Amino acid sequence: MRWSMNRRPTQVPAMGRVLISARSFEEYCANFSVVPADLLGGAVLDCPGGASDFGAAVRRAGGRAVTVDPQYGLPHQELAELVVEELERARRWADQQPSRFRLGDPEWRRAEAWQRSADTFLRDIDRDRTAGTGHYVTAALPRLPFADGTFHLVLSGFFLFTYADRADRLFHLRAVTELLRVCSGEVRLHPLNEIDGRRYRHLDWLLQELRNRGIAVREERVRSHIDPQDDRTLVLNAGRIRA
Ligand SMILES: C[S@@+](CC[C@H](N)C(=O)[O-])C[C@H]1O[C@@H](n2cnc3c(N)ncnc32)[C@H](O)[C@@H]1O
Repeated sequence: MRWSMNRRPTQVPAMGRVLISARSFEEYCANFSVVPADLLGGAVLDCPGGASDFGAAVRRAGGRAVTVDPQYGLPHQELAELVVEELERARRWADQQPSRFRLGDPEWRRAEAWQRSADTFLRDIDRDRTAGTGHYVTAALPRLPFADGTFHLVLSGFFLFTYADRADRLFHLRAVTELLRVCSGEVRLHPLNEIDGRRYRHLDWLLQELRNRGIAVREERVRSHIDPQDDRTLVLNAGRIRA
């Protein structure tokens, strides 16, 4: 992976390192345009999961979910402290852009929702470690420790495309190809924008590369309660990938 810091848009405050956010189960359903029934038909992968309660909520509803993030390798106390700092960092970053985010929106006020989501996540990952249930896996794209076609649905939010200012297009292609490899059904990616809200600069190139490999691609309109620009989700049909 090649990282560079030389193309960050100027109007948007610097984000610094990749944020560990804690979007709630309800936000996931809206962002990825899925309903709870879609999540019960087989194993679901959330990569990266950050501090979201999504996986815990799927399991509570009777489904099977695995969540991946490189930060899950941290000891519990360190992870818990980092998550608290990261929620504060997210608030400060968003508060600097009042004209962009619907900060007055009740959904954002429920950004206390992020706090609740993170609290649930921290309790759940702690239980998971004690019980050894393997619901949280430490790994990093573009390489995942799962067999081909393990999951019927793969969701990936707010990492790919978002941080395009520091990961090149080949990294993105390899990461998406890896998500497709471990999937037997659909891969859903959201949002399609970079951190400044503009469409990912290499999206057309990426979609053509995927089509060339026999992947069916389509964009779905969705509605974000917080950032009106985050209005699309990419749906990829894993099927058979041509090398
Ligand atoms: C903005 S969070 C998104 C979390 C969650 N999907 C959400 O919407 O709240 C981005 C996450 O990407 C993780 N991350 C950083 N590098 C990664 C990599 N190479 N592969 C997978 N995840 C990575 C970070 O640790 C962080 O938790």
